[in-house]
Amino acid sequence: MRLRPLALHDKLWLGRFLADPQATGMLVGAQSLHAGQAMSLAARILRNGGVVAAPVGDESDPVGCAWLSAASLAFFVIPAGRGRGLGAALAAAAVREGFERRLPVIEARVRYDNAPSLSVLHRLGFVRIGGSAVLDLRLTATRFAARVATDETALAGCNTPDSCGFMMFSKDPS
Ligand SMILES: CC(C)(COP(=O)(O)OP(=O)(O)OC[C@H]1O[C@@H](n2cnc3c(N)ncnc32)[C@H](O)[C@@H]1OP(=O)(O)O)[C@@H](O)C(=O)NCCC(=O)NCCS
Repeated sequence: MRLRPLALHDKLWLGRFLADPQATGMLVGAQSLHAGQAMSLAARILRNGGVVAAPVGDESDPVGCAWLSAASLAFFVIPAGRGRGLGAALAAAAVREGFERRLPVIEARVRYDNAPSLSVLHRLGFVRIGGSAVLDLRLTATRFAARVATDETALAGCNTPDSCGFMMFSKDPS
């Protein structure tokens, strides 16, 4: 599995995923999208750029994706690919890219009972700033840099510029 920038040919896969309520599950803002809405969201994500995890050396569909909408992080992994660290790697790559683009702060909105997502976000350094049923979390560039420096395992190799510091966004993620 490797991380690569989201590409035009991922649009159909992304739209299909976003239209599947069982797959999106707890992805805030992506529940109950009909096919047309899911494809519009996929097109918007593609315009801003993102990162996908895809099998190495074959044409199979990716298994997960992370992106920033303005300064808000979203990420998912298809059910069959979960529990192998891909969610953490994708989120770390998107966050890193956002900070390299000079965002001062990155935010995330997560349901309070979304344990896997909260685990990933806490390890990246996100802290809760509000919310109850849906929690608002925030990560500053300074705190992320400190996490990268002190927690190599949580950040899945993101402590070297080449490991996940590829050009992910076609333009500023705003
Ligand atoms: C959130 C999501 C991306 C995680 O993907 P993943 O590839 O399974 O993530 P990872 O394997 O990197 O890590 C998952 C973490 O959650 C933990 N976890 C998994 N299931 C858990 C559970 N039921 N309860 C508590 N923790 C759990 C894992 O132990 C791991 O934490 P650790 O690294 O501290 O051990 C995936 O579950 C998903 O796509 N969910 C639906 C969409 C979504 O909710 N996106 C996030 C909101 S923006």
